[in-house]
Amino acid sequence: MHTQDGRGILTPISIRLKKGLFLLIADCMERRRPKNFPPGPLPLPFLGHLLHVDFKQPHRTVEKLAGKYGNIFSLQLGNLTFVIVNGFQLVKEVLVHQGEYFLGRPQIPLMYEIFGPFGLVTSNGHSWKQQRRFALSTLRNFGLGKRSLEERIQEESRYLTDAIEEEKGQPFDPHFKINNAVSNIICSITFGDRFEYHDSHFQKLLRLIDETLYLQGTIWSQLYDSFPTIMKWIPGPHHTIFKNWEKLKSFVKEMIAKHKEDWNPSEPRDFIDCYLKEIAKADADPSFYEENLVFSTLDLFFAGTETTSTTIRWALLYMALYPDIQERVQAEIDAVIGQSRQPAMDDRDNMPYTNAVIHEVQRISNILPLSVPRMATSDTTLAGFYVPKGTVLIPNLTSVLFDKNEWETPHTFNPKHFLEDGQFKKKETFLPFSAGKRGCLGEPLARIELFLFFTVLLQKFTFQAPKDVKLSLKFRTGLTLCPQPYKICALSR
Ligand code: HEM
Ligand SMILES: *[C@@H]1O[C@H](CO)[C@@H](O)[C@H](O)[C@H]1NC(C)=O
Repeated sequence: MHTQDGRGILTPISIRLKKGLFLLIADCMERRRPKNFPPGPLPLPFLGHLLHVDFKQPHRTVEKLAGKYGNIFSLQLGNLTFVIVNGFQLVKEVLVHQGEYFLGRPQIPLMYEIFGPFGLVTSNGHSWKQQRRFALSTLRNFGLGKRSLEERIQEESRYLTDAIEEEKGQPFDPHFKINNAVSNIICSITFGDRFEYHDSHFQKLLRLIDETLYLQGTIWSQLYDSFPTIMKWIPGPHHTIFKNWEKLKSFVKEMIAKHKEDWNPSEPRDFIDCYLKEIAKADADPSFYEENLVFSTLDLFFAGTETTSTTIRWALLYMALYPDIQERVQAEIDAVIGQSRQPAMDDRDNMPYTNAVIHEVQRISNILPLSVPRMATSDTTLAGFYVPKGTVLIPNLTSVLFDKNEWETPHTFNPKHFLEDGQFKKKETFLPFSAGKRGCLGEPLARIELFLFFTVLLQKFTFQAPKDVKLSLKFRTGLTLCPQPYKICALSR
C-alpha cells in the first residue's frame, strides 16, 4: 500500500472493495435464520434492528413486535440475535421444564470484556457448576454459623436506623445509607467485615457500582454490544465502565491480599478464607484458582448489593405514596413485635400483611425486567420453534410480573395480590428472582434482608414526602430499574 507506482495503489483499493462486498454478502448469509427459527423482523446487515428500536422507549418498539409475532420472537442487534420469551408458561418452560437446556450464559461483548468466563454470573459449564455449588454451601455455612446471618442483619439494622435518626425527620436521600447497610451484609460474608457509613473509600466504591450499572443501560453499552470492534476505538462512557470495573476488581484483590497475610486454614473467617482453603486442597477442582476467586467474590459483592438495596428504596417510596398501607404494616409490627425488641425471622409467619407488602414491592418494582440473558446449551424446540444450541434467550420477567391474567390490578400497587382471607398467599407467578437451577443464587439471603430491614425501618420510622414535594415513581434504567434520586422524610415513631 506504500508502493510508489500507480497500479500498486489502485490494486489494493479494488481488492479492498471486493473484500468489502464479499464481507457484506457473507454477513447477510450468516444472518440467515435456521429453518423454523422464532420469527422476527428481517435482519439488516450491520445495523441490525437498531433502526427499529427507539432507545428512549425501547419497550414501545418491542411491544409492537410482540403484538405481531406473539410470545416468542427473535430480534437482532448488530451481531447479536436474541430470542425473547414472554408469558408465564413459556418463561417457566425455559427456566424450569427445559431448564437443563438453558443453563448457559451467552458471551455478550460488554459483559464478556469485563467478566470473561470467570466467577458466578457469566461462567459456563463445569466451572459454573463448581463455583455455584461452592458459593451456595459457603453462604449457607455462614448463615447458619455461630453468629447467624439474622444477628448480623439485626446489628446492621441498628447502625442504619441510628444513621437515619441523625437526619431528624428532615428531607434526605436514603440511597447510599441503605446501599451501605445492605452491602455490609454480603461484605461480612465475603470479606469478614462491615464498612462504616462515613468510610469515604467504601462510599466511593458503592458509587462506582451504581454508576457502572447505570452506564450499562445506556445506548453506549448497546452500541458496544452490537459493534464491539468499532466501539473499542470510539471514545465514550463505555470506557468508564471498564475503568470502574478495574477499580472494583482492585478493591477485591486488595482484600484477598490482606486475607493471605493472616490466613489460618483451620479457622476460616469468611468466603475468601474458605476459597483459599479450597484452592490449597490437594485434590482441588481445577476451577478453583485465584482469578476465579476474584470474580466470584466480585459477583457476590455487586449482585448482593445493588438489587436488594434498590428494592428497599422502592419500598420506602411506595410507603410514602400509600400512607394507609404503611399504617397497616406498622399496626401489624406493633401487634406482633412491639417497640422494645428487634424484628426476627420467626416473626414473618405471624405478619402476613407485611410479607404481602414486601412481595408486592418486588413484583411492581420489577428491578430486573428482562432477567439476565441465558444461552441454549443444546438444540431444542420451544413453542414449536427450533432453538439451536448457542441461541441467546431473554426471559421477559415483566410479562410474568404484570400478566393481566394472573394479577388483579397488574399496574397498581396492591398487597392483596398476595393475601387470601388475611393469610399470606404464595404465587407461582412471583418470579423477580427468576427460577430453576440458574435462578438467583442469593434469593434466600435477599428474602431475609428484605424482611428484616424493611420491618425495622417501619418499626422505627414513618416515611413521607417532604413538604410541598410530590414523590415520583419514575425510574432510571440501567442494568436494574431503580427509582430516580429522591428525598424523603423519616419521622421517628
Ligand atoms: C431483591 C434482590 C434480588 C433480586 C431481585 C435478584 C434477581 C436475580 C435474577 C433475576 C438473576 C438471574 C437468574 C437467572 O438467570 O435465572 C440473579 C442472578 C444472581 N444473583 Fe440475584 N437477585 C437479588 C439478590 C441477590 C443477592 C443478595 C445476591 C448475593 C448473594 C445475589 C446473587 C446472584 C448471583 C451470584 C446470580 C448469578 C447466578 C448464576 O448465574 O448462577 N442476588 N439474581
Ligand atoms: C416484556 O413484557 C412486557 C409486558 O408484557 C412488554 O410490555 C414488553 O414489551 C416485553 N419486552 C420484550 C423485550 O418483549
